[in-house]
Amino acid sequence: MNEPCFERILPLDELRPGRMHACRIGTREVVICRTDEGVFALDDICTHAEARMSEGRLRGTRLVCPLHGAVFDVRDGRVLKGPAVRSLGTHAVRIRDGAIEVAVDSGPDA
Ligand code: FES
Repeated sequence: MNEPCFERILPLDELRPGRMHACRIGTREVVICRTDEGVFALDDICTHAEARMSEGRLRGTRLVCPLHGAVFDVRDGRVLKGPAVRSLGTHAVRIRDGAIEVAVDSGPDA
């Protein structure tokens, strides 16, 4: 199994709790979510009809789609409320030298 390849995204102190940061890592659109439970990285494209999740709302650990209101858990990407039925892809996050780094999972949905 290959070692995950982490990419530096932004300084931790530039992303306040309750805020999101959209970015592209390789070909993948990713949203970084900072919550009171930590920092999480998920695919930025809703699995229902491809709305941009970073234009929705972050409420605690719940990420709400701006288009039809599906709700995902940022900790594992699972659907908490439809109409989406498929989880959002999640990616490994670590904090190094005060910066958020993300390793994109280049699985089958990449
Ligand atoms: S596009 Fe996200 S719920 Fe429809």
